Amino acid sequence: MTARIIDGKAIAAALRADVAAKVAAAGFTPGLAVVLVGEDPASAVYVRTKDRAAREAGIAARTIRLPAGTSQADLLATIRALNEDPAIDGILVQLPLPPGIAPEAVIEAIDPDKDVDGFHPVNVGHLADGRPTLVPCTPLGIMKMLRAIGVTASGARAVVVGRSAIVGRPMARLLLSADATVTVAHSRTRDLPAECRRADILIAATGRPELVRADWVQPGATVIDVGINRLADGRLVGDVAFDACAAVAGAITPVPGGVGPMTVACLLENTLTAALHRRSR
Ligand code: GUN
Repeated sequence: MTARIIDGKAIAAALRADVAAKVAAAGFTPGLAVVLVGEDPASAVYVRTKDRAAREAGIAARTIRLPAGTSQADLLATIRALNEDPAIDGILVQLPLPPGIAPEAVIEAIDPDKDVDGFHPVNVGHLADGRPTLVPCTPLGIMKMLRAIGVTASGARAVVVGRSAIVGRPMARLLLSADATVTVAHSRTRDLPAECRRADILIAATGRPELVRADWVQPGATVIDVGINRLADGRLVGDVAFDACAAVAGAITPVPGGVGPMTVACLLENTLTAALHRRSR
């Protein structure tokens, strides 16, 4: 079998156009603040991408760049000011943060109603409870991607490899809410290949380049690759050995051009969701 290549760029473009149309019809301009602390090169690229995509959708984006030596107290003060700013509907603090700043303290300082990353404990709790409010962008984008290509989560066996707060855990909760039978596998899982082979929907979010091999994939399965890893030779690869797995899977996301664009599109949607919610109170 040769897998269908899932065109995340195209699905994301449609979502971005939909958000842009809704923003244009909203009668106000949603505001998004993106905070970048330090000079991590990958983070700088992500932040530029988010800022540009927001502007293209008609969202007023503001990127706040703080030096690597910024204290936690100064960062918290910046967040408090954004919480109070009526022009700002969404706040995103790009992770990872430099050493010396506790990400939990930063995330907890964000007004949950402006938490467009969906990382605040209040929003995490709503999702865990099956009452999602603002949901982390990458797993939200994956659910939309599955729907767009006609993959039904209900009744499917889904295996999520990776248990991070940003992807693995919220992914599992969304799949469970969509009535999948969900397994969360991780670095301590016994016989990880066998767990993965049970999956109708296999989601790899480990940060380990090309971990998932062809014989880990059930023939016909849908394989979603969240990884973006730069190899020593400069190649960009996912957490899935793409060519080999594409020969077995029914559908598979490429890297790049798969999950990444969906994450950005969902940030725009979350910003609009937050803006509409704040204005409806
Ligand atoms: N770093 C990697 N992914 C993300 C994300 O989705 N949000 C934020 N804020 N930082 C990240």
